[in-house]
Amino acid sequence: MEHDKPKVKVTKNGPYKVSGTVRLAKGIMAQDEAGTPFEWKEGGILPIEETYWLCRCGNSRHKPFCDNTHRSVSFDGTETAGHQKFSELAITVEGPDLILKDAGVFCASARYCNLAGGIRFLIANSDNPESRELAIQVAHNCPSGRLIVSDKKTGEPIEPSIEPSITVAEDPGRKVSGPLFLKGGIEVVSSDDDSYEARYRVTLCRCGHSNNKPFCDGSHIRAAFNDGDESIN
Ligand code: FES
Repeated sequence: MEHDKPKVKVTKNGPYKVSGTVRLAKGIMAQDEAGTPFEWKEGGILPIEETYWLCRCGNSRHKPFCDNTHRSVSFDGTETAGHQKFSELAITVEGPDLILKDAGVFCASARYCNLAGGIRFLIANSDNPESRELAIQVAHNCPSGRLIVSDKKTGEPIEPSIEPSITVAEDPGRKVSGPLFLKGGIEVVSSDDDSYEARYRVTLCRCGHSNNKPFCDGSHIRAAFNDGDESIN
């Protein structure tokens, strides 16, 4: 049935309307001793209904949910992102065993790509099993979907099969709250009813400061966005 399909609708100068009973949980960016994020730690499941509304302006007192504060702060949520496909935006980096597609415009400054010498180093050494595995892990942890790794022999993207869900990101390394991390190909529809390309991993801005709305562009770090979560305070 139409209403069961997981979907995020961007509302004009307002919140995200999430429909389809999409699981919602906190996600903590765990970092190694060098301060590089290397995995996501689940930080608790949030209670939801079939349809719920998530704050997009960054000012709700009930984050991550909307409490209508966007009205009193006259939030300008104009969508500035284009509708080009990932394949039109990405550059290609070839290694011996893996191919990386990298669309920098989607970067959310999550920094997983810096692990173990960096994603490009790992791709260049992808004939080494350990480097290959790490490159795949790094790409899958990249919440924005900027990075997609493919098998060089088959040309097929290597993506785990995951149920649609939303992670509310927290970044203790920068002591800030991060974006909404959409997993599993959830459809995102603009306020003028135009769907963005469905991707397995997408980050949506919830601080209100992105210059690439509705997507996160890392501006939450500069804005010191803080939703009060104990992991960053
Ligand atoms: S949450 Fe990342 S720019 Fe707003």
